[in-house]
Amino acid sequence: MARVALVTGGTRGIGAAISGALKDAGYRVAANYGSKKVKADAFTATTGIPSYGWDVGDFAATQAGVGKVTADLGPVDVLVNNAGITRDVPLHKMTDEQWSEVVRVDLSSCFNTCRAVIDGMRERSFGRIVNISSINGQAGQFGQANYSAAKAGIIGFSKALALEGARKGITVNTICPGYIDTEMVQAVPPDVLKAIVAKIPVGRLGKAEEIARAVLFLVADDAGFVTGSTLTVNGGQYLT
Ligand code: CAA
Repeated sequence: MARVALVTGGTRGIGAAISGALKDAGYRVAANYGSKKVKADAFTATTGIPSYGWDVGDFAATQAGVGKVTADLGPVDVLVNNAGITRDVPLHKMTDEQWSEVVRVDLSSCFNTCRAVIDGMRERSFGRIVNISSINGQAGQFGQANYSAAKAGIIGFSKALALEGARKGITVNTICPGYIDTEMVQAVPPDVLKAIVAKIPVGRLGKAEEIARAVLFLVADDAGFVTGSTLTVNGGQYLT
């Protein structure tokens, strides 16, 4: 029986590439989305991957959403926490809401989804969790105190959960993408983005498929010895 994979923020950008790659590799995929239903419906129509709308930053909504995925497709064996938002602004101008919203959606979401699947993974003695962090959680970024904090938090969260899951066949790993050619990155002011790309040794933005490739490696059944790791996929922009 094919394993069930849930990808948060799985209908657009990096998440859409991950959902598609998992489907192509034989997984039964559920793609979560936040609010852009029209785009999610188009994604489902094109790919045949069902999409499920809920706010991953909301604990109760996430328990209900994962419950629906489980009822439709079966228990979740593979969880990819990809959903994330930015509210870029220097700290001296940052509002309480800009801080809280990014931490809620980018970091607390990982707790919310993992909490919803962890009991089942422990019972079945198998699980693959991949959390998508960012180069900016490793290196910091001007205008991203909120995002860098949340993305750095994901790395620590993943390491702690990796230790807890190790004896139960559950691996937990983090991927830190660099600047990938998505809507989120294209929203960076053009002059700022140009300066960033100039500092990428590979000489270009990454492709969403290049992150999906890393996810496939980490979630494979025979990747059971890879846990607690932080995989950097950034074109050489920041070396850890
Ligand atoms: N380093 C140092 N100084 C900088 C700077 C930088 N990177 N960027 C701006 N400054 C300076 C400006 O030159 C300016 O200096 P002066 O006051 O002396 O003129 C000062 O800081 C204030 O600049 P702004 O008034 O332009 O600041 P702002 O309020 O307009 O905010 C910003 C600027 C919105 C944060 C803008 O710099 C920005 O968008 N930066 C990009 C942030 C970024 O890379 N986000 C990544 C989004 S994609 C993503 O997050 C995905 C992923 O995981 C990689």
